[in-house]
Amino acid sequence: MLEEIKRLNALGLHRRCAEGDIARVAGLTLEINRLKKAKDAVICAHVYQTPDIILGVGDLAGDSYKLADDSRKTAAGSIVFCGVHFMAETAKILNPGKKVYVPSANAGCSLSEAVTGADVRRLKAEYPGLPVVTYINTSAEVKAESDCVVTSANAEKILRKLYLKHDRLIFLPDRFMGANLARTLGKTPGMDMILWHGTCIVHEKFSPELVGVYRRKYPGLAVLAHAECPEELIAAADFMGGTGDMLRYIENTNAAAYLLVTECGFGELAALRFPRKNFIAMCRLCPYMKSITLESVLALLKDPAPQEITVPAEIALRAKKAIEKMFELAG
Ligand code: 13P
Ligand code: SF4
Repeated sequence: MLEEIKRLNALGLHRRCAEGDIARVAGLTLEINRLKKAKDAVICAHVYQTPDIILGVGDLAGDSYKLADDSRKTAAGSIVFCGVHFMAETAKILNPGKKVYVPSANAGCSLSEAVTGADVRRLKAEYPGLPVVTYINTSAEVKAESDCVVTSANAEKILRKLYLKHDRLIFLPDRFMGANLARTLGKTPGMDMILWHGTCIVHEKFSPELVGVYRRKYPGLAVLAHAECPEELIAAADFMGGTGDMLRYIENTNAAAYLLVTECGFGELAALRFPRKNFIAMCRLCPYMKSITLESVLALLKDPAPQEITVPAEIALRAKKAIEKMFELAG
């Protein structure tokens, strides 16, 4: 136990624990890591998870794109996905022979819930022949109706390539992300890019006025905003991208401070990864991501069956094509 506490302290986790709490965390991480090995499981952790999960028990960590890519390369027999349901579903589609689990029944996503396969079929009938580009934050059923999946890490690059061949396309389900990308590419949202009405309940609420307040308070501030934020917020920011892009931006720049306009937990991870840099996190938590805890990971490892992810074979096959198109175009 003492060794485990030392390991967690070396990762900086004591800095986010209340006095004495590190022993409770160490008890959980020890047991999870023991069971994980015994059951030949790998733990994938999205960067919005808490640092005790990402650093304490995570084997693969990163943004949606990296986790999807890493999941195809793991040799482990099963995957425990500490992230939201669509991420685990993507891992299952890419690894049909493996068992994939999510340690929470509440790990949905407002974007994923905003659109159904039937909605996409109606859109395709309304705009025949337009390619359907779908954000990874969607169900397998929606991906199965799509031509190409994208994540925040590669959407700009893939759309740029697709616009070489097409004048117009459909982008779904995030209307803010779609509009932000369309403007970046010199396209008109609603015209060159047909949009759906989905939004992220975390990013839609960030206020550009607050960015102004922070800029006045912290001279030399770099404002990094996730592409799911509304257009006015992006206009007030210095950088737009996904969480992986933000980490690279932080690593390669030397701002006096960084305002992270994204899920609040990301600020905790950034502070642990870059202890000499200053961060201000606009605090909004994703309730879906935060429904996963060390306790729920342990409970899952003890009794995984009820939380196994399944995707009907016919849907998985068609969704896989759209995901593989992403890997091809993301290069
Ligand atoms: P990233 O792929 O940028 O980590 O985004 C995932 C997500 O759900 C953002 O809200
Ligand atoms: Fe979905 Fe928003 Fe949560 Fe990301 S932060 S998982 S887009 S609800």
